[in-house]
Amino acid sequence: MSPFLNPSSSNSRSRAAGLRRGFGTVDTLLVVGGAALLAWGGLYLGKYSGRFDVNEFDEIPHGRAPKAVAVAADPNAALLKAGMVAYGKSCVACHQADGMGNPALNIPPLAGSDWVMESSPNRIIRIVLHGLNGPVKVKDTMYSGGQMNPWLKTPDNTAGLTPEEIAAALSYARNTWGNKAPMVTADQVTAILKETEKRVDPWTMDELMKVPMTSGVSASAAITPDQLKAALKALPAAELEAVLKEMKK
Ligand code: HEC
Repeated sequence: MSPFLNPSSSNSRSRAAGLRRGFGTVDTLLVVGGAALLAWGGLYLGKYSGRFDVNEFDEIPHGRAPKAVAVAADPNAALLKAGMVAYGKSCVACHQADGMGNPALNIPPLAGSDWVMESSPNRIIRIVLHGLNGPVKVKDTMYSGGQMNPWLKTPDNTAGLTPEEIAAALSYARNTWGNKAPMVTADQVTAILKETEKRVDPWTMDELMKVPMTSGVSASAAITPDQLKAALKALPAAELEAVLKEMKK
């Protein structure tokens, strides 16, 4: 057994010799070990220093742009795609793919609708959350006899839409078929949901006309990447896949 490991096992003579030998070993170790460390340090820097270039420390892996980064690059475009999916799920049956509605069934158009394109989304968010009943005037035409059901997802209405999906569907309707209006965010939808949480009945046109356009939520708000992430997360897997596929086009 080495005297370093169990010095008590040696007699004092061989112990002294062992210690002398020991110091020699330590010197050699320092030189060899130091050289090895330097060599390792050089190799490490060679491999990981990134040539001391700040751009090397960019979190985006070079050569392959991850999907999430592509999404964040244009949050509005992604929201519109998510909106197209939500619209296809919940609105298209009545308001049609071209947004023209079905006047014969008293379903008004969203394309060119003054309601849809109002700068503040205060009224249209209410319509989708709680529905609309009674006559409604759209593009100078009176539609009566139709009713739109509430579209908020609740325990009683599991086929409904989340606030994120409602924001996406409305953003889509506001920016498709030649329509042009600010995007709608999930925050705006939840803010109005809070304001109207006691409401049960669908809205009527007269009631909605009294909803101020300036109070409640602000007229326009650009969607943030976080809100977009939340919107995308809220989509069922199959729909998210459809959005991502659509975005690759
Ligand atoms: C079952 C049919 C139906 C579905 C589904 C439906 N709506 Fe409607 N929507 C209507 C009818 C009918 C009216 C008019 C109600 C009335 O006459 O009071 C209306 C009115 C509206 C209006 C106000 C009038 C206008 O034309 O601008 C908006 C905005 C609207 N719907 C948006 C949506 C959105 C967004 C969705 C999907 C989340 C949706 N609707 C789903 C039937 C429907």
